[in-house]
Amino acid sequence: MEPKKQTIIFVLIAVISTAAIAAGVTYVVLAPTPEGEFDALEIYHWWTSGGEAAAIGALVDEFESLYPDTTVQEVQIAGGGGFEMRVKIKTLMLAGQPPDTFQIHNGYEWTIFYEANLLNNIDHIWTTALQDAVPDVIEDISKGPDGHYYSVPVNIHRSNVLWCNYEILNDTGIDPATLTSWPAFWAACEAIIANPNYTITKPVAMGEQWTAAHAFEQILASVGIDAYEAWVNGDIDSGTATHYADLLTACEIYENLTNYINTDWAALSWDSAIAKLTAATPTAAFSIMGDWANGEFFQAGWDHGVEYTTIGVPGTGNMYGLVVDCFEKPKNIPHPSNVDRWLGVVASNAGQDAFNPLKGSISARVDANISKYGAYQKSAIADFNAIDASATSYMFPSVVHGSGAPEAFNSDFIPLIGALTAGSATAAGTATAIAALGVTHASDFTRVWSLD
Ligand code: BGC
Repeated sequence: MEPKKQTIIFVLIAVISTAAIAAGVTYVVLAPTPEGEFDALEIYHWWTSGGEAAAIGALVDEFESLYPDTTVQEVQIAGGGGFEMRVKIKTLMLAGQPPDTFQIHNGYEWTIFYEANLLNNIDHIWTTALQDAVPDVIEDISKGPDGHYYSVPVNIHRSNVLWCNYEILNDTGIDPATLTSWPAFWAACEAIIANPNYTITKPVAMGEQWTAAHAFEQILASVGIDAYEAWVNGDIDSGTATHYADLLTACEIYENLTNYINTDWAALSWDSAIAKLTAATPTAAFSIMGDWANGEFFQAGWDHGVEYTTIGVPGTGNMYGLVVDCFEKPKNIPHPSNVDRWLGVVASNAGQDAFNPLKGSISARVDANISKYGAYQKSAIADFNAIDASATSYMFPSVVHGSGAPEAFNSDFIPLIGALTAGSATAAGTATAIAALGVTHASDFTRVWSLD
């Protein structure tokens, strides 16, 4: 008789204490390690919202259907964007206690482990068939500087999406298709505030600091792809840099956006921000968020084009902001064969088409079964393909989500947007400070992006 398949979910809880705050964040494991279980696979991830949990659950189910004798141990560390989880992963990796595999953003974000020689080359996973199936831009960031593969993408998220409560927009007489510029968007916000059928004072739902920085990078893209390209190449490094004026413009647009965001933004998770749109009595009509938000609308039972709709963030309709999650194979792990199997499932059509329809992202493979995807994702797939085919539309890699620029740059950049959001920094001061980071981290920029 085959052993019963089982998934064990460990939940790591941040211990809030003076010592923990001083030292960063510490965690306790609430569930015991399964004893005597050899054929196991440990996976760290931060997918704990409703949509995220459903998606990773479907991927694990797919793995377990193929390998029923393996006990999958999911270790979840809550915290959108993975900022909490990566603290733990770095500690484990650098202490020589790597988990079997873990979620991370593709590209720069895993560089620290590559440089420390802690990742296995996984060229054997990247068969010719897989290379053919994955778009070049995604394949490229799955390689290290040595030309070998070190990660397998599980999705392609779009960052530059404006999520809209359709009923509020209809009731206010706003056609979302007209929101293609910031002045048009400000006017829509004012009209919603003035609509007597609602009591909405802050129409744009914003969450904690990283979601603010996320919104900022979409705004910078809206100012121009050349400015964004200069930024991710580390070229906006002084007040006299070619695109410094664009950076300043982005800071000014962002500062205006803060007039329309909820005052409790800093305390809200990204999914709590989205819940402001889906509440029985909504308190916001818009949110700038990556399309992991689609998983929350899906969980709420909302239909795209009926209760909610989406457009590109104003000024970015011809762009696709890239956020790519991936898994890898650290060296010296307990279950290397199972990690090979896991990466194979992640890379497969079956795995991608189980995970992504629930996650909100599109498959990282061009041969996905589109019939498995909902209305929002069908439109995203069409947009992605159109951008690949057009000379006047662009993709751009997210900095906040670990692909566009070095992680140390990102860590210093996000609090600057937090200060601008809180009103403790000016637009001019923020632009100066962001440019200064280009100098501080100049040697970390190892990739030259060509976005147009
Ligand atoms: C990840 C997504 C995730 C989101 C919110 C992003 O950085 O790429 O997979 O759903 O954070 O947690």
